[in-house]
Amino acid sequence: MTSKISAAITAVGGYVPDYVLTNAELEKMVDTNDEWIRTRTGISERRILKGEGLATSDMVVPAVKQILEKRNIAPEEIDCIIVGTVTPDTIFPSTANLACHKLGAVNAWGYDLAAACSGFLYALTTGAALIESGRYKKVIVAGADKMSAIVDFSDRATCIIFGDGAGAVLLEPNTEGYGVKDSILRSDGGGGNYLHMKAGGSLHPASVETVSNKEHFIYQEGQTVFKHAVKDMADVSYELIQRNNLTADDITWLVPHQANKRIIDATANRMGLPAEKVMLNIQRYGNTTAGTIPLCLWDWQDRLKKDDLLVLAAFGGGFTWGATLIKWGV
Ligand code: UT7
Repeated sequence: MTSKISAAITAVGGYVPDYVLTNAELEKMVDTNDEWIRTRTGISERRILKGEGLATSDMVVPAVKQILEKRNIAPEEIDCIIVGTVTPDTIFPSTANLACHKLGAVNAWGYDLAAACSGFLYALTTGAALIESGRYKKVIVAGADKMSAIVDFSDRATCIIFGDGAGAVLLEPNTEGYGVKDSILRSDGGGGNYLHMKAGGSLHPASVETVSNKEHFIYQEGQTVFKHAVKDMADVSYELIQRNNLTADDITWLVPHQANKRIIDATANRMGLPAEKVMLNIQRYGNTTAGTIPLCLWDWQDRLKKDDLLVLAAFGGGFTWGATLIKWGV
């Protein structure tokens, strides 16, 4: 028993849109095929948020509502909402700001955190620190992206990968050592050239030219990103278990960012983990960027048991990457 405050994950929520974009449908849109997509990425289908006026906050809100129902708490009790996203509803107000309003979380403050595919891990570490400080009691950490808003559906190299979705967790104080145990987060802005959106920021504000040059879509040099992801996600996950004096046997689940099944396999191999210990739902949702890790927790929540040790790992645009150790205690 320790009196130190840790940030326990006390509930999980998730949301994926109804519309299923299959590989077969993509075959009709670009020069690709189901076999290539499945063998090169592991993806069979992804979800797309369709409908006028729907944005990332509209996926965060149902995910958070599930949490409120499960924990039987009112929106007014939420202290803070942090949303990891690179597809905010608007540059400002923030998605968190809009989600608080739509939820009726009138006592909450919040903000968006942009770390691409590592957005949930960055936000989780930040949210945990708010709890650990003793100052906040109920912090929602969400990872949410409407990638279809920035995907060029005529570019076969990127449109097959991404999907839309959101997941969220509630963090609450715990004095028995449950929750976020340790985290290693890294960033290298030198990787920016290989995965980014060229325009729409202060460097290249939107103009007729940026739109006609298709500069408001994801630009990715896939092979370079792949090489970094395979090495860095595996290395940081291994470093995390080493510095906590753990071995593969101690780890119950690897919860990896779902960008490419081959990257996930490499990380599991480096850690010495068998496939049965790896959460994998990329086949159904594709890469939902900040959404992947909390959506895994959402899909697997009924199988998670008290005292399970989880390693959450991500690599993405920035470059950003990291790994977080969780002791499950719901
Ligand atoms: O989550 C954020 C971080 N992002 C990532 O982690 C993504 C990392 N990168 C990847 O996952 C992979 O690089 C991709 C899935 C994006 C691409 O797979 P790849 O095995 O690296 O393919 P490639 O780019 O080396 O392309 C191999 C071939 C090329 O044809 P040639 O030049 O060999 O004739 C491509 O033109 O495959 C072709 N190709 C496709 N063929 C059918 C590229 N995209 C497609 C496609 N369908 N959709």
